[in-house]
Amino acid sequence: MTWLFDFWRSSIGGKVTMAITGLLLFGFVVAHLLGNLQLFAGPEAINAYARFLHERQGLLWVARLGLLAVFVLHVVTGIRLARGNRAARPVPYAKDDTVQATFASRSMVFSGLSLLVFVLYHLLHFTFGLTNPAHYARKAAGADGHDVYAMVTASFHVPAIAIAYAGFQIVLFLHLRHGIQSLAQTLGLHHGRYTPWIARASVVLALFVAGGNALLALSVLSGLVTVAP
Ligand code: HEM
Repeated sequence: MTWLFDFWRSSIGGKVTMAITGLLLFGFVVAHLLGNLQLFAGPEAINAYARFLHERQGLLWVARLGLLAVFVLHVVTGIRLARGNRAARPVPYAKDDTVQATFASRSMVFSGLSLLVFVLYHLLHFTFGLTNPAHYARKAAGADGHDVYAMVTASFHVPAIAIAYAGFQIVLFLHLRHGIQSLAQTLGLHHGRYTPWIARASVVLALFVAGGNALLALSVLSGLVTVAP
């Protein structure tokens, strides 16, 4: 096990850890969005999906604990790498591209920590029901106890909540776009011919996830998705 810890502590090991955990977290946000997009299909569709997940408690807990471990590893390794970069270079280089790279990695730490705040708020909101207990109670009050449609639409009907969710998606977009480019670089895909395609793909993928989430919140706010009575 010590070799694994030594590998993680090395600079390349840290980058590989960020790439693998980042890819897994990206897989989660895509899957989560595809599930949530069922809000557009109406209450039956999204509530059946919620019931399906909750009927598989064993599997759900394995996935939750796995996700938590991956998330913690991603945050801890990211902070370690950023601190290592700063310690190794207390005086920034004057050369333009290096200054840009430092700015990009600093902004990744900033956007990453902002996302941590979002995820904590999001868990308090929809998983623990602490920020808006009345909205959370609507989930349990549904016919089968899984009225996610009523809970989510009641929440996004409140302008401050919908706008806060949509606003955080800008941060998610920036983090995913740069993260996908870093991942490609760690995998060695930074050949002159691929780089412009990777840059385009990172914009499309990040826009899909962040735009999809923002669309959900704003569609309820604007009345495109009907709020449950
Ligand atoms: C408009 C966008 C989103 C909606 C409507 C939404 C909806 C939900 C709901 C309803 C739950 C609770 C599920 C339940 O316990 O029944 C949940 C849990 C969760 N969401 Fe989201 N979500 C959104 C965006 C995001 C984003 C962008 C992230 C990550 C960056 C995220 C991460 C999580 C996590 C980690 C959980 C906890 C999973 C669990 O309890 O098993 N969500 N979300």
